[in-house]
Amino acid sequence: MSTSLFDQVRSVIQAIEEADPKSPQELELFRVKYVGTKNTIKPLFAEMRNVPNEEKKAFGLLLNEAKQKAEAKFNALSNSLTQQEDGTISDIDLTAPGFPMPLGSRHPVSIVMNQIVSIFQRLGFTIVENREIEDEWHNFTALNTPADHPARDMTDTYYLKTDITHMLRSQTSTVQIHEMEQKQPPIRIISPGRVYRNETVSARAHAQFHQVEGLYIDEGVSFADMKQVIFHFAKELYGPDVKIRLRPSYFPFTEPSAEVDVYWGLNSDDDYRMTKGTGWLEIMGCGMVDPNVLEMCGIDTDRNSGYAFGMGIERQAMRKYKINDIRLLFENDVRFLSQFKSAY
Ligand code: DAH
Repeated sequence: MSTSLFDQVRSVIQAIEEADPKSPQELELFRVKYVGTKNTIKPLFAEMRNVPNEEKKAFGLLLNEAKQKAEAKFNALSNSLTQQEDGTISDIDLTAPGFPMPLGSRHPVSIVMNQIVSIFQRLGFTIVENREIEDEWHNFTALNTPADHPARDMTDTYYLKTDITHMLRSQTSTVQIHEMEQKQPPIRIISPGRVYRNETVSARAHAQFHQVEGLYIDEGVSFADMKQVIFHFAKELYGPDVKIRLRPSYFPFTEPSAEVDVYWGLNSDDDYRMTKGTGWLEIMGCGMVDPNVLEMCGIDTDRNSGYAFGMGIERQAMRKYKINDIRLLFENDVRFLSQFKSAY
């Protein structure tokens, strides 16, 4: 009788030693069988009373050995199996060499945009961005654009099909309005972003492009201040020997308004073509913000004045890199894009 009880415990110990649970599910079965509240070792403890007195001690030791082996094995396995689940230990060879990942490069439009923005940041302008879907107020009305201005036409601006009072913004000048509605002078911002116009796509024009807008409003800001900042900007972007000129122009939101040209030269056929035979290249529009605009935004015009300017980015990028088709800038062909490397 007692021999067979001893044998029963020995075979349990053997089964524990031989058990080889490989998954958390198998380990759970092991736990229920040998460690859980209804484990198979427990009933054997109850058999103690059937063991002759002189063998009780040995039987007890053997039972404890079974119990401890089961617990020790369960603890060891549960650590290693749950670690595998976490991914802490796995079959992946962490010492294997990695696959090389080709480095991307910045888009030429981003390079030029970052360069322009950083020139103004160094002068104390803060970057401000805003929405691309606009209402008429921010895209036109508050920018002093008359109700019958041709830019408001559906042939020029993309209105939303579902809501004719909203449109894709046609200029980043909208950001000026948002900013002046929310803040009081001094305001000094630079606003890069996408704009949209209902244009037929060709080598020279696209229905979406990028602009950078600048605005400075404070007490006593003058046209001379604007000229000096633009001159500084041109020197930074085109080199210290750059020559610029301001031509009188018209924008609804500035008075007086001007267009800025940089001197490009007239030595090659390319120069001739790019400057339309003048040697001068137009780079931006600018002017003193019309007091009507300031008043519509709640800015006190007795105390404040300021200037604004805006420029297209694609044109600058095309000039800089001698890209002859604007569509290349939107096709994302890696063979084209990988040619541009820059610190910006
Ligand atoms: N918003 C004008 C455009 O898209 C560019 C421009 C001109 C912006 C003069 C200005 C400005 O802030 O003062 O053609």
